[in-house]
Amino acid sequence: MTNKLHPLRRRLYKPQKAATGIAATISKQWTLRNITIVLAILNVFSLLNLAFTPPWLSSLSHRPPPTPPRCQTLEFASHDLHHNISEPAFHHAFPPVPLTINSSLSAYRLPDISDTFATYAYRNHPKCSISSLSLHKAFSPLCTDRQSFLRAFTGGGRIGFDTPFMPKDCDMRWYTTEEVCEILGRFEKVIVVGDSMMRHVVGAMNVLLRKDLGYGAVTGWNFGGEESEKCFCTHQMDVKACSIQGIYRTSDVLTHDPTSFACPYTLHSNNETPTSPVNLIIELMLKYPLDPTELSRLQSLLPPERPTRPIAFILGHGLWNDLDLAATVHWLDGVLTAIYSAAPYLQPQALPKEITDKPMVYILFVTPSAAGVLKPDQWIASQGDKALQIFEHSVRDEIYEQDGRFVGRGIEHMGTWNMSIQMDKWDGVHLNLRGNLIKAMGVANWLGGVEVERW
Ligand SMILES: *[C@@H]1O[C@H](CO)[C@@H](O)[C@H](O)[C@H]1NC(C)=O
Ligand SMILES: *[C@@H]1O[C@H](CO)[C@@H](O)[C@H](O)[C@H]1NC(C)=O
Ligand SMILES: *[C@@H]1O[C@H](CO)[C@@H](O)[C@H](O)[C@H]1NC(C)=O
Repeated sequence: MTNKLHPLRRRLYKPQKAATGIAATISKQWTLRNITIVLAILNVFSLLNLAFTPPWLSSLSHRPPPTPPRCQTLEFASHDLHHNISEPAFHHAFPPVPLTINSSLSAYRLPDISDTFATYAYRNHPKCSISSLSLHKAFSPLCTDRQSFLRAFTGGGRIGFDTPFMPKDCDMRWYTTEEVCEILGRFEKVIVVGDSMMRHVVGAMNVLLRKDLGYGAVTGWNFGGEESEKCFCTHQMDVKACSIQGIYRTSDVLTHDPTSFACPYTLHSNNETPTSPVNLIIELMLKYPLDPTELSRLQSLLPPERPTRPIAFILGHGLWNDLDLAATVHWLDGVLTAIYSAAPYLQPQALPKEITDKPMVYILFVTPSAAGVLKPDQWIASQGDKALQIFEHSVRDEIYEQDGRFVGRGIEHMGTWNMSIQMDKWDGVHLNLRGNLIKAMGVANWLGGVEVERW
């Protein structure tokens, strides 16, 4: 397989043993490097603290950015944001819509050509008027299986800057909230593991699950007036102080603000936390070497006995290790080892094979988005668009054979570089709400294609 790699693609030849063999030298390098990474990330975060996407971003990349406006200078007052709160959306049953990705679905495209956000909270707020039709443009045919969907999403693009995204060759679904609830409800848990980039995807999924464009991604229930003002709509993602208020798990929403949850849930007597078939969780796991505490936290999420519904994993990694493929593969193998040792029923050899001779796939790896012009110059070599593209290709080569069939690890890959290159963004490390909603919908399409009936 390695012979077939494009010469530019990074290759993985650093065996894990070598890393421990010269441990002393390497650990010194690691320490220095980690400090540099942390400093630079702080630097990136301070950029993210800008409250608005400046109009010069897309046209003038050579002019130094003007002094950032403070978050507090947002020009809408908090009372504007509060008078239309999300209606409690309570569904007693999943809607009977066809969801499996297969050819019989082609007839069911209604939500794809309507604004599925029409009833979301703050949809008509002047600072938050995002239509789903401005994010994705539907076309025929629909992708008929998970592989063709992943190729289409990874290779898709836009006709013009910031125009709606279109997958390549075949289309994805743009699901309604009810459909996303149904899909996530097929799984015992959907566990996202990764860095802040993945946390933003989880934020966008929570916007979908709570039908709230204004505050769906954040823990609005503990917000004071200032946070309500700062962390509204796209600033849930692009203001640093707000992105750390992101929602980490569905049980937190059900504990603190159940009526904001638009998926079905059950209230219990004696003040127990309401429960829902939907359970979306993120565990942050930034870089390799992995932190044992973080790994054991991930393991504690996994039931020791095989649950009746499958568990799906959405993994994302790269920037914290400077897109070093070896580090990413070690990160991945470390996470998988932790998962398989805590939940042996998830091991590839323990998975059902009866339909084809392959085990079912329930793990997706998402690679980073394209870089923006505000990516600081010192990061261009290690994390610029060239490095990002080579990384995306290389990760896929690690996961698939050249002909697109999967090998070894039983993981699938969704790339986001083509989707995000031609859109408005800062440095590209985190996309804005619009970009993250597209990623979230991509993840929902992949989950919708997982063969849960084989579990
Ligand atoms: C927002 O609330 C006001 C009343 O407070 C109401 O008149 C208006 O129709 C609402 N807008 C939306 C989009 O719900
Ligand atoms: C496609 O999915 C629907 C359920 O959404 C199912 O009834 C139908 O049998 C499936 N068709 C094929 C060809 O798998
Ligand atoms: C972009 O799309 C092409 C065509 O599908 C694909 O080969 C490539 O891997 C995608 N990603 C990047 C970073 O080029």
